[in-house]
Amino acid sequence: MNLNLTIKKIDTDVEIVLIKKKKIKENKEVLKNLNFKGNDEECVLLPGLKKLYVGCENSDHDSIRIAVATAVKKLNTTQFKSAYIKVKSNLNAYIDGFELGNYTFTKYKSKQDEIIEKNIYMEVEKIDTNIQKEFEESVSICNSVNMVRDFVNTPPEDFYPAIMANHAVNIAKENNLECKILDEDYLIENNMGSMLAVGRASRHRSKLIHLTYKPSGKVKATAKIVLIGKGLTYDSGGLSLKPADFMVSMKSDKSGGCAVLGIMNTISSLNLPIEVHGIVGAVENMIGGDAYKPDDVLTARNGKTIEVKNTDAEGRLVLADCLCYAQDEIDNIDYMLDFATLTGACVVGVGQYTSGIMGNNHSLMSKIVKSASKSGELATTLPFNRYLKKTLKSEIADISNIASTRYGGAITAGMFLDNFVKDKNKDKWVHIDIAGPAFVESAWGYNPHGASGAGVRLAIEFMKNI
Ligand code: BES
Ligand code: ZN
Ligand code: ZN
Repeated sequence: MNLNLTIKKIDTDVEIVLIKKKKIKENKEVLKNLNFKGNDEECVLLPGLKKLYVGCENSDHDSIRIAVATAVKKLNTTQFKSAYIKVKSNLNAYIDGFELGNYTFTKYKSKQDEIIEKNIYMEVEKIDTNIQKEFEESVSICNSVNMVRDFVNTPPEDFYPAIMANHAVNIAKENNLECKILDEDYLIENNMGSMLAVGRASRHRSKLIHLTYKPSGKVKATAKIVLIGKGLTYDSGGLSLKPADFMVSMKSDKSGGCAVLGIMNTISSLNLPIEVHGIVGAVENMIGGDAYKPDDVLTARNGKTIEVKNTDAEGRLVLADCLCYAQDEIDNIDYMLDFATLTGACVVGVGQYTSGIMGNNHSLMSKIVKSASKSGELATTLPFNRYLKKTLKSEIADISNIASTRYGGAITAGMFLDNFVKDKNKDKWVHIDIAGPAFVESAWGYNPHGASGAGVRLAIEFMKNI
């Protein structure tokens, strides 16, 4: 699909028209006869009139994204080669709808459907440098979201830590980023016993990925941002093995790490005056004779000891060492965000569409929630409290890797991570649990089944507003 901007109407195979609920202005009779009401995800194709009508419940950005994605899916069932749409405002929402709605993951189908390349013409009032910039930025962000979807959807046998590291190397090359790939020898030398333990039973060696973007030329960075991602290329649960039904889709446990790679893939195209570090702990959590065990006590890079009570609470063990690494290696951090499919409890608590935002700095957390909403993602805050904090106590080590209560699991996981954030960085850190939206079981909005690319748009929107 090729997106094009135009300032005049173009004669194409079909015109896409978004219709607000109860505001049907054209072809009223025909649409009425077809029972078209203008609800979300409703669409009617009238080939004779060369019109594709799609419902758009409200005028907010997300209604536009959903309506345009509905149109794209319909177009893809046709032989049409071109389509036209008039854009009144919110150009980026239209682009999201086209680019994200058009995504499919068919690499593993033995027979590929024939794809008819489509030219889409979006009419805007004028094409100046601002519009051109908005257009290019939105397309670039969507490409990164779709790249993340491809990564996450790839089966674990074809996407293990070394592969993730190779992708990071390629992203760095293409975008002129600094790139460090650290292996298990580095983890051993630097006492990262928490991350090391999780990957021990896997036949794939763990990798610590560190990409850095610095603004080019004379531009001085006004802020330093660190993004950290949970990159569990597979989470079987380890010896605390997941039940069969819960293991399916755990290839998506690398979503946080993949989101970080996606953000780093776009950052240089945005020309922002900020320094951005992307750190990913790429690890596979498996079973075997060498597996780490419930009852083990691990020592993280900051010297804290952790009693393992459940090997399925592995993401926090990987992130603990990644947080320590980031704070040891990078000074004067202004913001430190981590992205992780950390807990099923977060999905239970806030639903599968929404990310949970946690931390110590409430004003920063609400900025993240606003960035999420502006970018088309859903997020809400989950507050820490002193009582839940106590449930992480261990009788024999500094802390236990799971809480003693079965309630509030998203928050206790966030509070576990807080133990690995230095005092000077407490207010700079935000934990983003993307366990719900990262992987779509049943299609919603403009997300097909599979990975959604959650976190990428949220983070970019946040960074644009620093
Ligand atoms: N990767 C899972 C969390 C998860 C669950 C992500 C469902 C996406 C969908 C994580 O490693 C995990 O297994 N967490 C446990 C923690 C528990 C053992 C305290 C969970 O949520 O059940
Ligand atoms: Zn787990
Ligand atoms: Zn996990």
